[in-house]
Amino acid sequence: MNRFARFLRKRWFIYLLLCTPAFYVFVPIIQSDTEYFADPAKYLLEYVGLAATYLFVAVSTITPLRRIFPKSSIVKSLAYHRRPIGVSVFIYALLHFLIYYAYTGSWDAFVKDWDKLFILSGIIGFALLLLLAATSNNWSVRKLGGKNWKRIHRLAYLVMLLLIYHQATQEKTGYRETAKVFAPLILLQTVRIAIYGKGVLAKQSEIEESNSPS
Ligand code: HEM
Repeated sequence: MNRFARFLRKRWFIYLLLCTPAFYVFVPIIQSDTEYFADPAKYLLEYVGLAATYLFVAVSTITPLRRIFPKSSIVKSLAYHRRPIGVSVFIYALLHFLIYYAYTGSWDAFVKDWDKLFILSGIIGFALLLLLAATSNNWSVRKLGGKNWKRIHRLAYLVMLLLIYHQATQEKTGYRETAKVFAPLILLQTVRIAIYGKGVLAKQSEIEESNSPS
């Protein structure tokens, strides 16, 4: 394992990295950013929403990276931190939800918003993230069994689609900005599927060759 990969394994480094968005939130206050002071709650809502989304994209790239670069020690080190990164996605999403809830002012006003599809996509995405975070521990893997646990965690693909919709339908970000955020993940997943397809075809032709009379 090279030095960089060994350094990436350090828990303190990853925890510090995951807390960076929480520290960075003070920067606009220090810099007297007018956008922040115009509507701090809205600014924070968008900020933690983006932090959750970027971390979601980051953690979702780990599986395709492992398939594409199975021998890379850097990818192995990143995979080592999959759980804390996944849980941090949930924590930033929870903050996003709490700020939004406080912003609406009451439960009734919050529920009234559910008929907006972009809010509904956020709520379903958040509920699924809660399920994924709650089952991201050894106890759940043991209780559910490896196969069921994997099935549940495949819901991350549904979360991806919901988040793409949730962000893309925002006036401020729109489809173009959202495409930029999710592009690396979509690209890696496409390469992963292509590698998988190639493997299946190779296996099939091997079987056909061994079955054909010589
Ligand atoms: C609990 C359910 C959710 C609700 C009620 C909700 C609500 C909102 C609202 C109202 C906005 C628009 C803010 C504005 O007016 O500019 C927004 C934006 C956004 N949300 Fe959510 N959201 C939820 C879940 C999520 C989740 C789970 C994520 C990501 C993991 C997320 C990521 C984002 C992003 C990236 C934006 C756009 C921020 C920007 O463009 O600046 N949201 N959300």
